[in-house]
Amino acid sequence: MDYLDKNADFEVYPVRRSRPIVDASFIELESPVSTLPSASTILITGCSSGFGLETARLFLDKGWHVIATMRTPREDLLPRSERLRVLALDVTDAHSIRRCIDAAGPIDVLVNNAGVGVMAPLEGTSVETARDVFETNTLGTIAMTKAVLAQFRERRAGMVVNVTSSVTLKALPLISVYSASKAAVNAFTESLAFELAPFNVHVRLVLPGRAPGTSFGANARRRMSDGFPEAYVEFRDRRLAAVLDNEAPHTQSLDVAQAVWRAVTDPSAAMRTPAGADALEAFRA
Ligand SMILES: NC(=O)c1ccc[n+]([C@@H]2O[C@H](COP(=O)([O-])OP(=O)(O)OC[C@H]3O[C@@H](n4cnc5c(N)ncnc54)[C@H](OP(=O)(O)O)[C@@H]3O)[C@@H](O)[C@H]2O)c1
Repeated sequence: MDYLDKNADFEVYPVRRSRPIVDASFIELESPVSTLPSASTILITGCSSGFGLETARLFLDKGWHVIATMRTPREDLLPRSERLRVLALDVTDAHSIRRCIDAAGPIDVLVNNAGVGVMAPLEGTSVETARDVFETNTLGTIAMTKAVLAQFRERRAGMVVNVTSSVTLKALPLISVYSASKAAVNAFTESLAFELAPFNVHVRLVLPGRAPGTSFGANARRRMSDGFPEAYVEFRDRRLAAVLDNEAPHTQSLDVAQAVWRAVTDPSAAMRTPAGADALEAFRA
């Protein structure tokens, strides 16, 4: 507090912030003009489990053409359909992205859902691990978005939905690197929206809450192994109990699939759509 008092010239932003602070005075951000037809094509990253798999299922149910991408393609995860294609994609690999986009052909919507977590104190997170997390969550999203923009701009139509996280609305401990990787995607998306609006290309954010039901937590805990500092062990154990708590408000994969559906098909959807009871709480706080 002393520090803040002595440096009163610095503006201190609250940690909880439900709306982006943007200066939109120079450009109009319009809603998508019309609802996309049900025969539209959506490409979703990270469909081997969790939110991506559920989102692919929901869009298939709604009659869309779905390109479900996975690092290791599996045909048995989704119902058989002539409207479904499963393609290989690793969002950290430029060749894999090129091959996937070429094989996909024209698409109408891209959902950047693939992501990895890490739950560890910064002292116990190597810079290499931090780089890996940013490679997938941030640069993977940027690279995939870049890969579809030319076709969207030329067609003067298209949408990108980026899946980030409610931890960018309500800060939580032991996930500083993960939170930073997702907050960067929020900022990226909100800036890009202005640059693409003149071409009728739209970008949106979906912010899910904590979802103990997906493979995400187990994957994130695997990245705790950079040498966990003893001083944080008790803190970690308390956090782990909270993270795995199924009683407290949390998010289901279907909440996220429905939020993506809304972001894509509802012309009045805002830039940020929270997904799940806990995310909604954080959004409204
Ligand atoms: N679960 C949560 O609590 C939570 C909360 C908020 C936001 N999110 C975000 O929601 C998204 C989906 O998470 P989830 O809960 O559904 O987790 P999940 O079940 O672990 O699914 C993550 C997906 O991303 C894929 N993936 C990871 N690295 C990839 C890469 N380099 N290239 C392509 N695909 C890659 C995984 O594929 P593999 O099977 O090949 O690893 C998997 O299909 C992530 O962006 C995550 O950050 C999750």
